Amino acid sequence: MKIIKSIEEWRYIFKKHKTNGKTVGLVPTMGALHGAHISLVGHSVKDNDLTAVSIFVNPTQFNNPDDLTNYPETWESDVAKLEAAGVDYLLYPAYEDMYRDNYRYKLIETEYSGDLCGTARPGHFDGVLTVVMKLLNMTKATKAYFGEKDWQQFQLIKDMAETFFIDTEIIPCPLIREKSGLAMSSRNKMLTTEELERAPLFNKTISSGKTIAEMKEELTSLGFKVDYLKKKEGRIFGAVFLGKARLIDNVKI
Ligand code: PAJ
Repeated sequence: MKIIKSIEEWRYIFKKHKTNGKTVGLVPTMGALHGAHISLVGHSVKDNDLTAVSIFVNPTQFNNPDDLTNYPETWESDVAKLEAAGVDYLLYPAYEDMYRDNYRYKLIETEYSGDLCGTARPGHFDGVLTVVMKLLNMTKATKAYFGEKDWQQFQLIKDMAETFFIDTEIIPCPLIREKSGLAMSSRNKMLTTEELERAPLFNKTISSGKTIAEMKEELTSLGFKVDYLKKKEGRIFGAVFLGKARLIDNVKI
């Protein structure tokens, strides 16, 4: 696996691969990699000649400075996991390189990004869409892979790619859970042992078939602070705080 910091080098390499007719899969991440990230990588490796992963903890999508400061970093184990998964290129750009304009330019969606996760996190999806647009443009990937844990993120990125005539095909990947039912997440690393034992009750509660009001009450009594719970498009979407972590999940009704 070739590890690259320079965006110029990255662009040069992928332009060359494109000219040579190679298909490229891109898996954008913020590091602290776990099994779900690796499952996205697996889809890309299977579908494409080459797989590229980016690790960039994108400050513009963090509306809470503590969340950014506490965001876990596990560089060495990330590199080992990506090597083992058969990744060809890893990009880890610097903020100054990614945001040469210091975020003067941003991409804003004006409807859906204010719902669900966007309600309590103003500007979050502006940061996500802006950085993903940059990554798609600098890689010109054939396909890019996103997980259905972040359902709203996937939908917004898919619509963005269509809206701006981006050639990359945006591929959804199924939500991956721990055996306990807890959705895999980098933020699970912020949980204490006790919180980690309690965390699967989030998924259990939203899968229980109860009303939204009953679920909210149950989660609150279990010590979760509910950000939102909402039925939409035949699914239940939710976000809760547990200790230092904000956890999200969604289930089919
Ligand atoms: P990150 O949270 O690192 O997630 C990277 C990708 O892994 C996203 O597409 C996310 O949906 C997917 N993923 C994470 N946990 C998952 C799970 N349990 N099951 C399935 N897929 C899962 O999402 C981001 O980073 C950032 O917002 C990013 C798109 C990289 C832009 O900065």
